[in-house]
Amino acid sequence: MEERRRGRAGCCWGIIVLTLLGTVYCAHYKEVSPLITMEQLLWVSGRVIGEVDTYRIPLITYTPRGHLLAFSEARKHSASDLGAKFIATRRSQDGGYTWGPTAFIIDDGSAADGLNLGAVVVDDETKNIFLVYTLCAHYLQCGVSSVMVTNSSDDGITWSTPRNLSHEVGTAMFSPGPGYGIQKKYEPKKGRLIVCGHGTLDEDGVFCLLSDDHGKTWRKGGNLEGLPFKKQKRMGDFSPDECQPYELPDGSVVINTRNQYFYHCHCRIIVYSTDGCDSLPLENVRFDEGLPDPAVAAGALYKGGVTYFVNPAHQTQRLNLTLRWSFNSGDSWEQKSFQIWPGPSGYSTLTTLSHSIEDNENLFIVYEKGRQQITESISFVKVNLYGSP
Ligand SMILES: *[C@@H]1O[C@H](CO)[C@@H](O)[C@H](O)[C@H]1NC(C)=O
Ligand SMILES: *[C@@H]1O[C@H](CO)[C@@H](O)[C@H](O)[C@H]1NC(C)=O
Ligand SMILES: *[C@@H]1O[C@H](CO)[C@@H](O)[C@H](O)[C@H]1NC(C)=O
Repeated sequence: MEERRRGRAGCCWGIIVLTLLGTVYCAHYKEVSPLITMEQLLWVSGRVIGEVDTYRIPLITYTPRGHLLAFSEARKHSASDLGAKFIATRRSQDGGYTWGPTAFIIDDGSAADGLNLGAVVVDDETKNIFLVYTLCAHYLQCGVSSVMVTNSSDDGITWSTPRNLSHEVGTAMFSPGPGYGIQKKYEPKKGRLIVCGHGTLDEDGVFCLLSDDHGKTWRKGGNLEGLPFKKQKRMGDFSPDECQPYELPDGSVVINTRNQYFYHCHCRIIVYSTDGCDSLPLENVRFDEGLPDPAVAAGALYKGGVTYFVNPAHQTQRLNLTLRWSFNSGDSWEQKSFQIWPGPSGYSTLTTLSHSIEDNENLFIVYEKGRQQITESISFVKVNLYGSP
């Protein structure tokens, strides 16, 4: 597994353009000085909203109309990954200042091994939003695992009856995200929808579901397998797990991945694909020591020449939610970082809006936040990237 990565050429080009075009662009490119300009809790655990015991697994996306849409798992009876759940959603039409009430859009009834979120992906060409989730991810009192998808063509207000993707992609357990899926904006495979996720802990490995016809049909892309292959893993084994893909302007897809059993380091696994995730070759894997990580689902996003990453920045504990940024497509991270919350913090997802200049200066982050434990609430923060003097 070599250390080389694509994207350097893009970076050098960026710097040349800056030197030629002058300072305003340059300042945006060079200085990131984040400031939290707003924070609010979207969901609070403890049977106070819809009698739901625990909210976990936050997702956020922009919408085709330039609004924000957040989702979470509403775990009905306990904080466990197992058990019955709803998918909860809230919408904001004003950049996150106000949010509509919680809607429960999917209900798995009283399943022992209910649904798992999931990934949300926007098709910018058809304006369709897809939400992909899994049933029976742990095989508890259920024989078959299913990947399900629902879609919304009205910006997230109404959702279709879920469709069972396992008819097409098979019933091997696939747990998407948690985070967002992408639509390729550059060749190769421009327009392709890509939803990445992982298999069971024992057979683990990362692979993506791909659609080249705007979500009508889906198939499996290439697999980055865990090692030893199809054997129960133990500490130190290679087990790529929950992941977040993003695309670079050179058309490569980078997947920033949880390193479940800390192979090589207590840090993130990075794998990239140059063929739109048809393959995830082992030689495209590296370990990012610049991103210490306690094994968690983290957020990553490429925007305007800068790669952003958010996670609880600690080698063993889910604490200290921290935003980092890179000017060379993630080859290295700036020394300066930005602390979002020092206390217990867990899973997170990032998104951005690009409809106005003001929008463009912000990142929108949802994350698991607590004072004692990460399961206490799901928080939304708006971070102005150039907000600090
Ligand atoms: C979205 O859902 C509608 C309603 O169920 C369905 O007719 C349509 O085929 C779905 N679109 C895609 C691309 O899956
Ligand atoms: C989904 O499809 C698979 C494969 O056809 C099937 O085995 C499974 O029972 C289906 N799941 C649901 C929830 O209908
Ligand atoms: C949080 O992470 C930052 C960046 O790694 C580090 O400088 C800081 O000491 C950490 N704080 C805590 C409370 O762990």
